[in-house]
Amino acid sequence: MADPIRFLLNGNLVEAAGVSPQTTLLEYLRDHRRLTGTKEGCAEGDCGACTVVVAEPAAAGGLEYHPINACIRLLPTIDGKAVFTVEALAAGDTLHPVQEAMVREHGSQCGFCTPGFVMSLFGLYKNAHRPPRADVMDALSGNLCRCTGYRPILSAADAMYSLLAPADWRGPGIAADGARRISPDEEALATELAALARDGTFEYEHAGQRFFAPRTHDELARLVAALPDARIVAGTTDVGLWVTKQHRALGNLIYVGNVDGLAAIGDTDGALEIGAAATLAAAFAALDAEWPELHEAWERFASVPIRNAGTLGGNVANGSPIGDSMPALIALGATVVLRRGAASRELPLEDFYVAYQQTAREAGEYVAAIRVPRRRPATTLRAYKLSRRHDQDISAVFACFRFDLDAGRIASARIGVGGVAVTPKRASATEAALTGRPWTEPTARTAMVALTAEFSPITDMRATADYRRDGLAALLLRCWHETGTDAPRVPTRVADVIA
Ligand code: FAD
Ligand code: FES
Ligand code: FES
Repeated sequence: MADPIRFLLNGNLVEAAGVSPQTTLLEYLRDHRRLTGTKEGCAEGDCGACTVVVAEPAAAGGLEYHPINACIRLLPTIDGKAVFTVEALAAGDTLHPVQEAMVREHGSQCGFCTPGFVMSLFGLYKNAHRPPRADVMDALSGNLCRCTGYRPILSAADAMYSLLAPADWRGPGIAADGARRISPDEEALATELAALARDGTFEYEHAGQRFFAPRTHDELARLVAALPDARIVAGTTDVGLWVTKQHRALGNLIYVGNVDGLAAIGDTDGALEIGAAATLAAAFAALDAEWPELHEAWERFASVPIRNAGTLGGNVANGSPIGDSMPALIALGATVVLRRGAASRELPLEDFYVAYQQTAREAGEYVAAIRVPRRRPATTLRAYKLSRRHDQDISAVFACFRFDLDAGRIASARIGVGGVAVTPKRASATEAALTGRPWTEPTARTAMVALTAEFSPITDMRATADYRRDGLAALLLRCWHETGTDAPRVPTRVADVIA
């Protein structure tokens, strides 16, 4: 008899059984719990109608809150967590300040998107006090509204902090002076969650399909070796769509999100080591601290709910030719650490990708970590994403340029690109064209020719081959405009041109 999936739903213990391991959290909430406030719009993480907030015990006490997309999250991965849906926010007839602000500011018309916006705003309300407008827009980058328009919703985000705060877990998470606020019932919820934590591997099974959530590296290694055909899953922001859009039967599943230490981020032998299960949000924060030039590119990676759920290991392992982290990591000289049994091996990231959607990962191996060498002095770095929309869009082209300059000359160059080949790539020929030369316009123009010749992109629904080729070269020119030794500093960002 398999163990049920146990989690706190709006503060109450739920035990889910008798459902497929590839049931989505949204399906479970709506069809099994009749919590129909959470909507389904796109079923692919794009519209935010299904946003719920997941809470886990925080290292500093109390809970940490993360909005995620319920439509692509597989239910068993929620075991041991607390889920809050829009139904939990009001207390009787008294609306939560987020909801009250939406009403007062006329932030809703047809209302279909509204529960999702409310839950994204609730996440913001818990995680920040009166954040700047840019942070509010980032928090809402995964929510689409087709009829109200965003101005009243942004006004609601400003107004929610002025309304009377509840004293319980629904209250703000950060006080006006920046201190963290933890209510007594948040401590109680954290204690309940601690009691739900499992000592060993959580195993769930339905109709012959099995789900495993190991707690240790050794157990994960054992399972991956013993079940080489099982699908490894992390945040399920890629895998969830295989279920909702492709209706694929995933077979047995091994979830890496509960493995102690697999989400750790720290310094190992002089490199920044990011555990494969670190969320994109956590990984990007760590990368930002050393390479702030990457911040804008990370903000344009999906949306806050996707970055809260998706992992760096998942992005790297999936190996999409249009994935965004890999070109940047290749330019930074990152390596990928693969583990099988007790043995580990480390590969330069560019060598990990062998063909379209094929990596060098062998049966029985899993991605354990990504290692990024520490920043050298005199490093010049730029990363650019070209896509049809600013927020929440897949790249047509991604390029990251890194130069180590010595007295105005390029002592070494590393360039990572995406969207122009069947895998993420290192632009080695272009690097050779740059190395040893002054970082001036003639060098940039020569390198643009090399970059154009180095890749043969394809035309698809996102962009034509010509757009990709010319766009890639133009990004190198932009990099020269921003960093070249002889470059006139002209505005290169749309926001600066229209400012
Ligand atoms: P999962 O979906 O759980 O797994 C993805 C793949 O990696 C699977 O093949 C899985 O078997 C494998 N895997 C996961 N962990 C491991 C491991 N430790 N070892 C071995 N294999 C493993 N991506 C971008 O690059 N840029 C974007 O802007 C972007 N926008 C998106 C927007 C939306 C709306 C959605 C739904 C997705 C978007 N993505 C984007 C794709 C996705 O979010 C990322 O690829 C994410 O990093 C995947 O991580 P995950 O933890 O969710 O992986
Ligand atoms: Fe659109 Fe989930 S239903 S993001
Ligand atoms: Fe109708 Fe937003 S209020 S979609």
